[in-house]
Amino acid sequence: MPQKFQTLKKAKRLKKSSQKWLLRQINDPFVEKAKLEGWRSRAAFKIIEVDQKFKIFKKGKIVLDLGAAPGGWSQYAVTKVGEGNVVALDLLTIDPLLGVHFFVGDFTEESVSEQIISLLKTIPHNKGGRCDVVLTDMAANTTGDHQTDHLRIVGLLEEALNFAEKVLNDGGSFVGKIFQGGSSDEILKKLRKRFSTVKYFKPDSSRKDSSETYLVALGFSPDRL
Ligand SMILES: C[S@@+](CC[C@H](N)C(=O)[O-])C[C@H]1O[C@@H](n2cnc3c(N)ncnc32)[C@H](O)[C@@H]1O
Repeated sequence: MPQKFQTLKKAKRLKKSSQKWLLRQINDPFVEKAKLEGWRSRAAFKIIEVDQKFKIFKKGKIVLDLGAAPGGWSQYAVTKVGEGNVVALDLLTIDPLLGVHFFVGDFTEESVSEQIISLLKTIPHNKGGRCDVVLTDMAANTTGDHQTDHLRIVGLLEEALNFAEKVLNDGGSFVGKIFQGGSSDEILKKLRKRFSTVKYFKPDSSRKDSSETYLVALGFSPDRL
């Protein structure tokens, strides 16, 4: 029996919410495309679209990927910047990715920032422990309460941005996930102070029914702090 029908049969035995998720997965062309092209997640297409539009990755640049599991963004980034130039972390583990320094950790814990900087320093010619691109696709587990979920994701984004300010090289870039409709004014203000260009970007591969979007900030300048 074709896999799609087997999955549909399985769906009938699940709770309504899980059924909805499963049906959305099997009808999602990006899930199919990711499988065919060998990407670890459909999320890979979002960063590909960001890169096609904003050209954030270049050979030899150093990338930090926060909330990287299962690894689609890192997988794409390493093809662009080269092996050894990507540091990634997540609460969850991932299958090893060639050329990516991955570790398990909670980004909100202080010891984890030190670990990131130590890892960045292991990259040859990067003794200062800095990087050129900070990515955050981090999403806290949803509670179902829109307001709480929004605040939690903005909190994560804000922490990522504070950390990016410490580690980004002059001219560096920041890409972060945010949900539309809520208190993102502060973060936008901060980004505009630190970066020469700040744009909202909703990739075509981001689900239309999701309020998820991305903030892309280019041209970091430590002097603006
Ligand atoms: C949407 S997924 C990332 C998908 C990834 N960009 C890809 O291409 O495969 C979001 C991830 O953020 C991680 N995350 C959430 N909060 C985190 C935290 N405090 N520290 C580290 N990772 C976190 C989750 O575990 C989850 O794997």
